Amino acid sequence: MHAATTCTLLIALYIAAGIAKSRLRKRAQLPRVGRAGPLGYAWTVLRSVLDSEGLVDEGWAKFGGKPFVLPSMSGEWIVLGPEDVEQLRRSDDTIFNAPERAKQLFLPNVMFGDITTNPYHLETIIRSDLTKALRSLVPEMLEEAQLAIPEHIPIKNGQTSAIIPLFPTMVHLIARVSNRAMIGAPGCRDERFLKNQVSVAEEVIPMSQVLNWFPSVLQPVVWKFFSVTIGAKDHAVRGVAPYVQARIDYAQQDNPSTIVDLLLRYAPPEDIQDVPKLAARVVHLNMAATHTSAIFTTHALFELARMPAEDVESIRAEILAAIESEGDIFNKNAVGKFHLLDSLLKEIGRFHSLFAVGSSRLVLKEAVISNGTVLPPGSVVALAPKPLHNNPDFYPDAHVFDPFRFAKRRTGESVTKDVKQSFTALSNDYIVFGVGKHGCPGRFFASLKIKVILAELLLSYDLSFPEGASKTPKPFAFNIFTMPSPTAKLEFTKRKVKAE
Ligand code: HEM
Repeated sequence: MHAATTCTLLIALYIAAGIAKSRLRKRAQLPRVGRAGPLGYAWTVLRSVLDSEGLVDEGWAKFGGKPFVLPSMSGEWIVLGPEDVEQLRRSDDTIFNAPERAKQLFLPNVMFGDITTNPYHLETIIRSDLTKALRSLVPEMLEEAQLAIPEHIPIKNGQTSAIIPLFPTMVHLIARVSNRAMIGAPGCRDERFLKNQVSVAEEVIPMSQVLNWFPSVLQPVVWKFFSVTIGAKDHAVRGVAPYVQARIDYAQQDNPSTIVDLLLRYAPPEDIQDVPKLAARVVHLNMAATHTSAIFTTHALFELARMPAEDVESIRAEILAAIESEGDIFNKNAVGKFHLLDSLLKEIGRFHSLFAVGSSRLVLKEAVISNGTVLPPGSVVALAPKPLHNNPDFYPDAHVFDPFRFAKRRTGESVTKDVKQSFTALSNDYIVFGVGKHGCPGRFFASLKIKVILAELLLSYDLSFPEGASKTPKPFAFNIFTMPSPTAKLEFTKRKVKAE
């Protein structure tokens, strides 16, 4: 039989088995988005692979922002409405559980081994110690950005500008600056090491989605086959191991200067004996820290290249004034005063979706949602960022990209009220970093890192789209994720004046 026919038959069988399974399981009485009937269901599942966002838009419009079911290749998601955000925000994992859902969705146990039974690398370190260490990390990240940027934007002798594919370049740049904080210098400059770290996310995130298409008993076998064929994760773990070992040998955990040092503070004795396991935790952290930040940086640069010149100048002027106010030192306090850049980033999160549905939770016990529907255990609930971020009650002219939307809301009358407008503030109307106790703990680190890089780029270069290139490059979507076009380019022209 022809390979394509076999493949189509297997997919059809898989979807049919999925439909049968979902019919047998107790389900919530909620309407479903997509075409009607079993064939319509199969079509909707297939459509979700490349157009989950379109399906969410359709469901939101059709059911008036009330909960509905979104079928996908990895099972059904119950997309909750605005009235249910508060319930998720308050949840303590007894009913709506985040860690169990993360295991289902990203399969860390299949791909990374047992690093989630005691996930100290995701909890205490990022939630508390890293955030406290940010002040000392700013000069390190700035130095790394200053060294790395000219290497990533190579301007040939006799020329004044360079055209680069933006997203892959930002992924690499972010990985290097992140790893200055993660493992320190000079390790963070090792090209092979960085390439492997970057490849892990590019391998593991899509693979977790694909593995979800297989029954759980087959997942380890399928993963083994792929990891032997592609192998980025194993290379990355091997690449990190010597840095982890060096930190253990020099027992520097009492005077931490990198995230690995922080990790060693909390590592139980059995982990200290198991360097590959510790290294897997670092790779896992790198995975959370790289592409998400690169997506924001890329969107920001595309937006800056589209913005009127005077708006870009306002952002530059504010950055320069903030640095000057700190005695000409580009430190964490100065970054805290980049309100226009902060507003631009927050608007990017509002306007450009990173995912069609997020903050998903596994329902552990029977639960009732705002419209009275009973959700049986085993259901999966999630929030839809795009429609929530387009709510006209909170965001007038929501369809307009207004880089200074949130800066304009800072009145200066109350610090508490102003802080609520900041990029890293969580709220029920802004869910880019999630909601409640599982809201992203790495957001303060991410925000600083992105701002350091963007400020350095803005002060050094003028930005424009290459001649003839589209100014609105089409994003790329896969399952629930959306990222900027991987091929679109931007031109960086060296500026004559740069703050020293
Ligand atoms: C702009 C960059 C980033 C974005 C947009 C982002 C977004 C998110 C989102 C949406 C969640 C899920 C929240 C929820 O379930 O309600 C999350 C969780 C998480 N993020 Fe981030 N993230 C970013 C950067 C980072 C960085 C740099 C790190 C680590 C250094 C990190 C570590 C984590 C961890 C450990 C969790 C799981 C938290 C938990 O389940 O308790 N993230 N992030």
